[in-house]
This record gives sequence, C-alpha cells and structure tokens, in this order.
Amino acid sequence: MLFIFNFLFSPLPTPALICLLTFGAAVFWWLINRPQPVFPLINLNKQSVGIEGGARKGALQKSNEPVQYYFSDARTMYEIFQRGLIVSDNGPCLGYRKPNQPYKWLSYKQVSDRAEYLGSYLLHKGHMATPNNFVGIFAQNRPEWIISEFACYTYSMVAVPLYDTLGEEAIIYIINKANIVTVICDTPQKASVLLGNVEKGLTSSLKIIILMDPLMDELKLRGEKSGVEILPMSEAETVGKENFRKPVPPSPEDLSIICFTSGTTGDPKGAMLTHQNVVANSASFLYHLEESFVPSPEDVSISYLPLAHMFERIVQAIVFCSGAKVGFFQGDIRLLPDDMKTLKPTIFPTVPRLLNRLYDKVQNEAKTPLKKLLLDLALAHKFSEVKRGIIRKDSLWDKLIFKKIQEGLGGKVELMVTGAAPISSPVLTFLRAALGCQVFEAYGQTECTAGCTFTAPRDYTSGHVGIPLSCNHVKLEDVVEMNYFSANNEGEICIRGTNVFKGYLKDPEKTEEALDKDGWLHTGDIGRWLQNGTLKIIDRKKNIFKLAQGEYIAPEKIENVYIRSRAVAQMFVHGDSLRSSLVGIVVPDSDALPSFAAKFGVQGSFEELCKNQAVQEAILEDLQKLGKESGLKSFEQVKTIYLHPEPFSIENGLLTPTLKAKRSDLSRYFRVQIDSLYQSIKE
Ligand SMILES: *[C@@H]1O[C@H](CO)[C@@H](O)[C@H](O)[C@H]1NC(C)=O
Repeated sequence: MLFIFNFLFSPLPTPALICLLTFGAAVFWWLINRPQPVFPLINLNKQSVGIEGGARKGALQKSNEPVQYYFSDARTMYEIFQRGLIVSDNGPCLGYRKPNQPYKWLSYKQVSDRAEYLGSYLLHKGHMATPNNFVGIFAQNRPEWIISEFACYTYSMVAVPLYDTLGEEAIIYIINKANIVTVICDTPQKASVLLGNVEKGLTSSLKIIILMDPLMDELKLRGEKSGVEILPMSEAETVGKENFRKPVPPSPEDLSIICFTSGTTGDPKGAMLTHQNVVANSASFLYHLEESFVPSPEDVSISYLPLAHMFERIVQAIVFCSGAKVGFFQGDIRLLPDDMKTLKPTIFPTVPRLLNRLYDKVQNEAKTPLKKLLLDLALAHKFSEVKRGIIRKDSLWDKLIFKKIQEGLGGKVELMVTGAAPISSPVLTFLRAALGCQVFEAYGQTECTAGCTFTAPRDYTSGHVGIPLSCNHVKLEDVVEMNYFSANNEGEICIRGTNVFKGYLKDPEKTEEALDKDGWLHTGDIGRWLQNGTLKIIDRKKNIFKLAQGEYIAPEKIENVYIRSRAVAQMFVHGDSLRSSLVGIVVPDSDALPSFAAKFGVQGSFEELCKNQAVQEAILEDLQKLGKESGLKSFEQVKTIYLHPEPFSIENGLLTPTLKAKRSDLSRYFRVQIDSLYQSIKE
C-alpha cells in the first residue's frame, strides 16, 4: 500500500515510474500465476492399511475386494481393444517408422480388421477358437506383434511369446511343452532357426510359420521338404479375409497369454495368465493414477521394452482401453533417442538400466565446478517444488538447465514408470526433479501379471517400492531359517488377488511351490513394511534346505568358500533332508591341478589325476581347512567329494545363460556319483 501511495504522490521521473510499474506488474503476475502446492490424496505417513489375516492393502483402496476391471465394458483384452476403437473414434493406434522418416499410423479399425483376418486364417488352417489353442509369437516389438496377439484374442486363442534371450534350447522346450503348431515370426533368420529344429526332429508339432518380413522362395521350399508351410503374413490375411469367421470373444476367466520365464533352476516355466489377470492389473494402475494421470486418445506411449514381458503388455492394455496410441521404436536401442524425439511420447515405460545411463550422462556433462553448482542448485530448487506436489517443465530452471534433457525424451513425457529391477535413490530423485513429469516405481513379477506394488501418487521419497495395488493384498510370511518374522514386519512377500496367475503350464509341482492352497503367491523376495506403510525389498529367499538332523544349509554360501581353493574351478554342494551330511562335486582347475598333485608325488593326465584317490583326499582336506577358517560349522562341511573332469557349462545344461548353477539339473546329472558318495560315508 505504502508503495502505491508513494508512487502516486511523489514526483518521480518518468523512466523510474515505468520501471516501478513493470516491476509491480511482474510481482502481481507472479502472485496469481505461481504454482500452487498439490496435496496428496492419502496420508503419506500411513500409506497402507492392515486387513484381516495380517495382510495389507493400499490406503487408496476403499473396498477389501481386489478390483477386476476399470471399465465395465472392457473386461477382456479383446474388449479393451474394442473400447479403444470406440473412444478414439477409430483414431490412430499403432505407429512405426523407417530411419529418418516420420511415424506412420495404423488406425484401430485397421488393426482390428487385420487381427480378424489373421485369426480367420488360423481357424481356416484347423485351429480351434478355444483357450487351449496356443499360438507362438516370435518377434521384436512391431505392429504385427499386436495384430498377431489380437488375432488370438479375437477367437479365444492363447498367445505364447517367444524371444531370443531365452536361448534356442528353451524355444524348442516351449514349442514342445505348449504343443505349438503355428508360430508367427518376424525375420527369415528366425524362421530358419525354427525350421532347423523341425529338420532335426526336435519340434515335430510345428506345421505353420507365418512371416512378417518378405519371404524368399528358398525358405519356402525348405519348409515344404519338412512338412512346414511358410507364408507371408499378408498372404495369411488375404486367405483369412476370403474365409472370414465371426469373432469368438473370450470370457474374463479364459487364458489369454502364457508367459515363459527362465529361472536359475531347470527349464523355463510358462506362467498362465487369464484375460482377467491382465485386465485387473492394468485397471489397478488406472485407479492408482486416477487423480494424477488419466490417459486419453491424445496420449502416446513408446514401445521398446520387450513385448514378451508383461510390463510392456500392461502398459499397452492401459493405452488401448483409453483409445491412446503406441509408437514402436525402429528395433535398434541405439536409435531410441531419435525415435523419442520424433514420437514425443507422453507415457514412458522404462527400466533402471536406461535411466542410470541418462543420469551418468548428465552428471558427466557438468564438468566445471560452476556447471556442477548450477546443476545442483537447479535440482534442489525443482525437487523442493516436487515435494509440494508441483510438477512442471516451465520454470526458469527448466528453461536454463533441464530443457535439453527433457527434449532428449521428446519433451512431452508426463508419466514415467520404472520397473523390472530396483532403482537407486539418487537416480530417482534426479529424475523427479529434472524431468518435470510424474515418476513411479513398480514392483512385481510375471506370476502376478506384472505389478503388485506401486509408488503412491505424490510420494516423492525413494528407498521403497510403494504400496499394494488395488488388485491385490500383500502379506509377509515368516522365513525362520533366515531370521525374518512377520511379527517384526519382515518376511517373504506373498500376494493374493485378481492379478495372480493360474499356475505354470503342465507343471503342477512348480505351481505348488509358487501358489499355496489359500491362493497366496510366494514371491521368494524378502520385504519389510516401513513405518509409513510402504514396502521395501530387503533380501532374496535363498536356496536353503534342511538336513535330516534339522540344520539349515545354504549351499551357495558354502560353495563360495570352497571355490577359493587353488585346486578348484567349480563346485557343487549337495545335501537333502533325508541325509545328515553334505557331499560335493568338484571340477578341479586343470591349470593348477598338476602342480597341486606333484607336491605329494602324483603325476598323470588331468583325467587320471581326477580319478586318483590321493588327489581327491588332498583336495577334500584343503576344502575342509578353508571351511574351518571361514567359520563353517561342521555340518556345513562336505564329508566327501567326487572329482569331475568336465566343467559345468551352458552347453551341457548345468549352468543358466547367466552362468548360475542349475541346482536341480546338477543333482539329477550326478545322481549316480552322489549315491555312491553317500554309500562311502555310511551315514
Ligand atoms: C517412508 O519411510 C521411509 C523409511 O523411514 C522413508 O525413507 C521415506 O522417506 C518415507 N516416505 C514418506 C513419504 O514419508
């Protein structure tokens, strides 16, 4: 007031007056336009709520019943897509591009028509419109993947994704396990691999390969020789159009997809997911985001995370039921930045690996102390806004510092979800400050479709995986042998809800290990409830078994001690609950063994040394000495060993592609040796 008074009545020179007026206007403008704090929907100090039986639900969830769907007219994946067709008014659906070109779009109706034609072709070739008909999809992300998937759903058939990183042996295993007749695949190279397996007599069920890329005559002829029909997808669609069948939509309880995952033990396991599983999981994300991000036909998501994984499937279910768009990357992760700049996605599903790289890049670019100071100042200021619920890209700091980073992602990202692996606190905080979009972390596994917990809206803190989604409850179960007790809010994370799978395909044993009789999925992860109701992942349930006298054994821990022996290259410790001691299979180190043996006067070839009694005793003695030094208890020491001259490898099926021991395969492989070791110690 004083300010206005002064300026009205004192004789100021004109330039000063103008200055003051401008300043006053600026202050006024700032006062009415400054971003207002946004308050969280739930008390962030009390984010989850205990329910009967010791489980918890998210504080956002009103009823105790897990949700099944978001839109009552979209309860299956088929209906989800049809809903997208209507709400987008047949808008653009799937986008793709060639290098340095703009995106081209297939409309919802085009995708739906082509899915019907392709599905009609499958029926024409003898497939039945039932949920026990499995169709393989073996391709990188591209529109035809989705067309193939919906060709299945339109006629109540089940999609079985195959992917390269599984390894060739696993692909053979899956085709046989699911008795797959038809595989829809992208490149002639993949078709050739599939055909090779048929020629070798390894996959006799396979009869039809539908190829997305152009087909060469040579491959077609090769197929004919081994009784496999290979044809281009366009031809299959033409035949399907001529032999059109009316859609046979599935019901929510029907299987929709079998998602094979590879573990450390044994063959891949096919998680069976129903339409309801997938719909319920995507619905729970929509409920969770209701007040912060509601997707519309204007939204677009970038697709580059493998479609064969459920994370990306759920993102797309959310996109389709909202009538939004999916743009595919060109298929080369190095070109992703260019694809992002062209597509300008609003939804960005991602994984920590990529985000860490982005973080490192920005940190490394701030080389001079001044630049570093500016970056830290900008981050601190923007993060203080985030804490008040203000999420924006138009502050001064954004214009000065963060514009380049944001534009690197296309400049339009509003929703970013990271999953599949834990993300570190500094990286998460950096992203929330720098990107001016909502950043959520999801935790889950294929057996609960994709996600079971998710960051609560407006929770800007890190170091936890959020709260239960509204499709499931989460409880922690005692793991006595690791000293985790639910009474201390710690234990194995167990999940029950509409997103929990129906078991592994034709594998009752593994299903029983994962799903208990009350329908709880045992994840094998150890979690802790934090004071404010969020869940933190703190450990992984180890491979642990009990010996006959009741002592717990963690074989990996013991192997890690023994592996330090100079004479040992690889080691497998075996024991079971019917025996009271452990035995070991040792692969000696072929370089070190001759000099090791020479010390006590034994010579010979590597194979001979492995058979030598004195060598075996010396190695056993060395192991037990190491074990003692490292504090192994006497029941944790192996009583006797067998020396095996051949390394465990991926090729002989004893190691996983990530070089972890396949324990059950090792036990089976060395059954005879193990039995005779036990006989020799006469327990
Ligand atoms: C919840 O608790 C954890 C552990 O104390 C803390 O790190 C986190 O910042 C808290 N979150 C909120 C929103 O208070």
